[in-house]
Amino acid sequence: MNIKLAIAIALTTATIISCSPDPAAGLRSPVLPEALLDYSIEANSILNIELDQDPGWDARAQLGRVLFYDRTLSQNGAVSCGSCHHQGHGFAEPIALSKGLRQELTARNTSHIVNAAFQSSYFWDGRATDLAEQVTMPLQNHVEMGIRDLDVLVDRLAQIDYYPPLFEQAYGSPQPNVEGLREGLATFLRSMVSQNSRMDQAASVSMNNGPFSFWDPWTVTNDDIQLDGFSSLEQQGFELFHGKMLCASCHNGPSFNGWGGSFADIGLDMGELGQFSAGGWGATAMKVPSLRNVALTAPYMHDGRFASLDDVLDHYSHGILDSPTLDSRLRNWDNASPFIFEEPFIDFFPFGGSAEAEPVRLNMTPGERAALLAFMGTLTDLDFVKDVRYSDPFTSSL
Ligand code: HEC
Ligand code: HEC
Repeated sequence: MNIKLAIAIALTTATIISCSPDPAAGLRSPVLPEALLDYSIEANSILNIELDQDPGWDARAQLGRVLFYDRTLSQNGAVSCGSCHHQGHGFAEPIALSKGLRQELTARNTSHIVNAAFQSSYFWDGRATDLAEQVTMPLQNHVEMGIRDLDVLVDRLAQIDYYPPLFEQAYGSPQPNVEGLREGLATFLRSMVSQNSRMDQAASVSMNNGPFSFWDPWTVTNDDIQLDGFSSLEQQGFELFHGKMLCASCHNGPSFNGWGGSFADIGLDMGELGQFSAGGWGATAMKVPSLRNVALTAPYMHDGRFASLDDVLDHYSHGILDSPTLDSRLRNWDNASPFIFEEPFIDFFPFGGSAEAEPVRLNMTPGERAALLAFMGTLTDLDFVKDVRYSDPFTSSL
């Protein structure tokens, strides 16, 4: 057999294999509802949002939903965004590192996605600051989706029967283009809002009853707050989180992520995966991740090193390592000598500081751990992880 013929046969076989119906791989066309779903974001006093969406919002979000779950968006058709970001796990993946289009492992743990609209930086190291810019980075990442040229990708989309109508509905023109692809994906991510955890429900009751700012750790007066529907263990966990255990000095704000743009070095032994130079917060500072849905997003940390929340608590309880870059909020200032205040301000806050102050040893009791775990459980939003608007249209039966 000559070589050309062999290649031709190999190629045909490959095509046949990839075209043969594979039930596990889902449908080849998305199943979408006849009427557009409503993706508008409700005004919400907890998240402090009053978004004013323009009329094209729902159609752009729908386009983004299809793009998010479409494996055509990877160079070899092997993975979609949804292959790594699983809705049932709060859009994280329950393994330390994910596999990209050629089964290679990602450099870091797959971030969970929640309330991305209200963050100012993305990725563990915060190297993206604009969501519409961020969404094409996984497409072009050689490990994740391997698309070299976005123009070639949109030409590919133009050949797929369901895209021209989706683009037409979203932008008034059936011709897919890079801008529309970016905006579609970004709109879908922006519309993914979690606002109905038990914590949210309790917070809205308390905010209606009192003048305090619920989400500001410095004004939380523990004794005054009785959280609606919370067990006493959950209530105790809330108080520990905002008080003695220091958690809310970083995980504050409505998504428990320091308002979406904070970074800190929490005293992990940082291997290669921890090193980066973006953001100007120091080479070992990572983004403070949101704790919304945290009970569903294991494993934890930028490299997925901790399998459970118990392991995370071990770290904060007695595992924090000292280093010049350790965040000052995780130092014990009680016994530190006063001269540290003479150091340059930048050294003192918000990270780094004097070696005079040892890393904190919270030495959590079993009861305190149980309370913190119970509190973190109240951050799960089942409506969010089951919301059909964010689900995979290639497998759903809407
Ligand atoms: C192969 C697995 C994989 C695929 C496919 C993938 N991602 Fe990710 N995603 C990751 C990993 C890993 C990170 C964290 C990377 C880092 O911080 O360096 C991440 C981070 C993110 C973040 C940042 C979240 C935050 O709060 O910081 C967003 C948003 C995101 N991905 C969206 C997408 C979109 C949109 C697509 C499809 C175009 C996609 N991802 C495809 C693995 C994947
Ligand atoms: C000094 C700031 C700071 C404090 C204080 C802090 N955290 Fe964190 N937290 C972070 C940062 C930054 C990360 C990500 C670190 C990384 O991946 O390298 C993180 C990660 C986590 C994670 C893993 C989330 C995920 O998606 O992987 C959990 C859970 C967590 N923290 C809970 C807590 C609890 C509970 C406390 C209090 C006992 C606490 N944190 C105190 C900054 C802080």
